[in-house]
Amino acid sequence: MIDELKKLKIVKSHYAGKVRDVFDLGEQLLIITSDRISAYDCVFPNIIPGKGKILNQISVFFFKNISHIIDNHLISNNVDDFPAEFHDFKDQLDGRSVLVKKSKVIPFECIARGYISGSAWEEYKHFGTVNSQFVDKNMKQSQRFTQPLFTPSTKAASGHDENISYNKLLERIDKNIAEYLKEKSLELYKWAHQFLLERDIIIADTKFEFGSIGENIILIDEIFTPDSSRFWDKNAYEIGISPKSYDKQFIRDFVTKSGWNKMPPAPELPQEVIDKSLEKYKLVYSKITGETYK
Ligand SMILES: Nc1ncnc2c1ncn2[C@@H]1O[C@H](COP(=O)(O)OP(=O)(O)O)[C@@H](O)[C@H]1O
Ligand SMILES: [Mg+2]
Repeated sequence: MIDELKKLKIVKSHYAGKVRDVFDLGEQLLIITSDRISAYDCVFPNIIPGKGKILNQISVFFFKNISHIIDNHLISNNVDDFPAEFHDFKDQLDGRSVLVKKSKVIPFECIARGYISGSAWEEYKHFGTVNSQFVDKNMKQSQRFTQPLFTPSTKAASGHDENISYNKLLERIDKNIAEYLKEKSLELYKWAHQFLLERDIIIADTKFEFGSIGENIILIDEIFTPDSSRFWDKNAYEIGISPKSYDKQFIRDFVTKSGWNKMPPAPELPQEVIDKSLEKYKLVYSKITGETYK
């Protein structure tokens, strides 16, 4: 389908991201979430069949629920609302695509963290800092911060993103914009933390992307998905370990154990790992939306 869509007159250009396919329609984008999976910025050779639909629908669910905090790019997730040229592809687009407002991407990943894990925990263990900022002393793995932190990183065109301090961000973009990104990232995180806690999920950290349309800054990309967030099972949460998670930590743990050096190419995933992760995506979908994934 992707090749056929690329040929449509209405499509100005196509960008194949690690996970999503983005079609530029001028003032709008059509974004299709594939079943590809990436970790450590590498895309795996296998797909997780159905993953794209689940993640797209989680993101849409949240975009529709956070308008009280900030405007976002979503125009519609209903193919009938898409330009007529796409209607022939309805069956393939249904559930995994969105029509959004095109923005100028602000080239930083805005990460909010409520708990110490992943790269933040690695840095803290060695230096006692997170994104070069001193934080609470004597923290243990997965412990909650007294206050959520804003820990931006660069959005590298290729290779790994680089964590930067808030001060570095201030050097690179307008101060008012940096403050706005920080404030909104923390507000969104706190809202989601409360919302998900009531559904037995701890959102340990999450990543946002913002874009501008003229003077306005809006939320873009995806939000609160298992690809952009670290989700833990609240009932299995424990300090001092890496808790049971609903996100791609499962894949990360598997490939780390397998001895992969995190450089391309990413290794083949065994069928049981594919099945297990799909199961986790379905479970998190039903916990969030209250509906069984069909
Ligand atoms: N509203 C938007 N306006 C412009 N670009 C967007 C918008 N929403 C998402 N994007 C961009 O589309 C791409 C989505 O595809 P993805 O697979 O995540 O790519 P990547 O490998 O670059 O992370 C990202 O580069 C993201 O920044
Ligand atoms: Mg991305």
